[in-house]
Amino acid sequence: MVYHIPALLKESIDGLNLKPDGIYVDVTFGGGGHSMEILKRIINGKLVAFDQDDDASVNVPADKRFLFLNQNFRFLKNNLRFNGIETVDGLIADLGVSFHQFDEPARGFTFRQDAPLDMRMNKRGTITAVQLLNTLDEQPLADLFYNFGELINSRRIAKEIVAFRSVRPLATVNDIIDAIGKLAPHRQEHKFYAKVFQGLRIAVNHEIDFLKEMLEQALEVLNPGGRLVVITYHSLEDRVVKNFMKTGNFEGVGKQDFYGNIETPFRIITRKGITPGEEEISLNRRARSARLRVAEKI
Ligand SMILES: C[S@@+](CC[C@H](N)C(=O)[O-])C[C@H]1O[C@@H](n2cnc3c(N)ncnc32)[C@H](O)[C@@H]1O
Repeated sequence: MVYHIPALLKESIDGLNLKPDGIYVDVTFGGGGHSMEILKRIINGKLVAFDQDDDASVNVPADKRFLFLNQNFRFLKNNLRFNGIETVDGLIADLGVSFHQFDEPARGFTFRQDAPLDMRMNKRGTITAVQLLNTLDEQPLADLFYNFGELINSRRIAKEIVAFRSVRPLATVNDIIDAIGKLAPHRQEHKFYAKVFQGLRIAVNHEIDFLKEMLEQALEVLNPGGRLVVITYHSLEDRVVKNFMKTGNFEGVGKQDFYGNIETPFRIITRKGITPGEEEISLNRRARSARLRVAEKI
């Protein structure tokens, strides 16, 4: 089975504006699709790749220019420094889960197969989706589905889960479907469960908080002229990236200088972001929600 098919491969690697002898970071190595393309295009350069999932290590190439770190990208700066790297010429992040993680039923990322509700990208992580579902109070559970799943009936979802677990704890994908199935809109069941699972996955893996931590460190380690290249898969993470590239903060409100000009640490290269064309989507349907943003550090 294929480990992953990279989205927006050419567009994202072009976005890095690679120098043959530059130092680059791929913070989401996965199946290595983006990394391999970088290695093809640099000559004497160096590539450091991060992935918190140790399964990704099976894809590590034997290449002296390449270093794989089985680490969370929230520790970007310390890990680079530990390996003698203070600054880099470009960084790529292709967020979310790999096909491998999604397709492996035992990891519990998909509602299409029954399995324990795990959803940890890092198998050594302490909190699983089961733990969140069985221990969070009703209000924080509703907040999770509202904030991370973008579900407007989040309160009812939380209520049904709390009612279910008052009889027995939730353990599997089928349990959550039993608990909230009656709330799934007719003919839109897949969309509904996709949002429920998105909310849980983001919470289990602290995806938004860790993305913010990584972006702030990326800005610190990038050399002037260095490119920040990010592919997102839903509007929550896209908003974080867009605001950060525009203003250097997550609120998207830029500081004004003495003359009223907005101060920004980046020059935006892709104003609206780049999405896959029909041809790419016809070959890789899972790329359909991808959005690529590129900015250059000033
Ligand atoms: C969409 S896949 C990347 C696919 C890759 N670009 C390729 O071409 O094969 C995302 C990968 O990032 C990893 N990941 C997600 N969040 C991470 C984090 N905070 N730290 C390190 N790795 C992370 C996941 O484990 C997954 O393998």
